[in-house]
Amino acid sequence: MSAASGSIPVITIDGPSASGKGTVAERVAVALGFHFLDSGALYRLTALSAMKHGVALDDEAGVAALAAALPAAFRDGAVWLAEENVTDAIRAEIVGEGASKVAALPAVRAALLDRQRAYRQPPGLVADGRDMGTVVFADAATKVFLTASAAARAERRYKQLIEKGNSANLPSLVADMRARDARDAARTVAPLKPAPDALLLDTTHMDIESAVQAVLAHYRSRQ
Ligand code: DC
Repeated sequence: MSAASGSIPVITIDGPSASGKGTVAERVAVALGFHFLDSGALYRLTALSAMKHGVALDDEAGVAALAAALPAAFRDGAVWLAEENVTDAIRAEIVGEGASKVAALPAVRAALLDRQRAYRQPPGLVADGRDMGTVVFADAATKVFLTASAAARAERRYKQLIEKGNSANLPSLVADMRARDARDAARTVAPLKPAPDALLLDTTHMDIESAVQAVLAHYRSRQ
């Protein structure tokens, strides 16, 4: 990182899946006129690219080479892989599973580091992920770890699935959520854990707007 980029503010928002951090991070970015990085999308794009190229998801060197040269772009509210609009494709369950596999490979994480840091552009960046405050932007002045109970997160995911016309089973979603939490926290590379200097925000009993306001207040208190 250059000295110049170090002066560009970054707000990191990390946390488990379905904690609402993506929505909160995007709204905070809009409120401040900052850029927004959805780092999970980069892991999803890497997995999708591997699947398209027939590269095995445990072929660390092969997947890392794809990650390093990923023709990814975020524009017009859509996600692109080369000239293909993959906004919906990267949200598929199978791609999410693939993303969690490739995210456990150290060479893949290393290959995506510079790309993620390049999003730090004036006037500032809101970065959403798992290791934004602990690894990628460890020097950020404002860090938030957003969480909610497994039951609350499972209920949010349940409502999303039902709204989209899918079938869903709440008890199995709660069990999945707990299993995924345990896996993410136990991972040896960049495990999901709050940075020591992160604000812990438990949104179990909080709506999105209150969480957005809490992050903005924390950012302003750090100026
Ligand atoms: O947030 P998400 O569900 O789109 O993330 C997809 C996968 O990528 C998920 O298994 C966690 C992983 N990930 C990661 O390891 N580090 C990040 N900074 C972001 C996501």
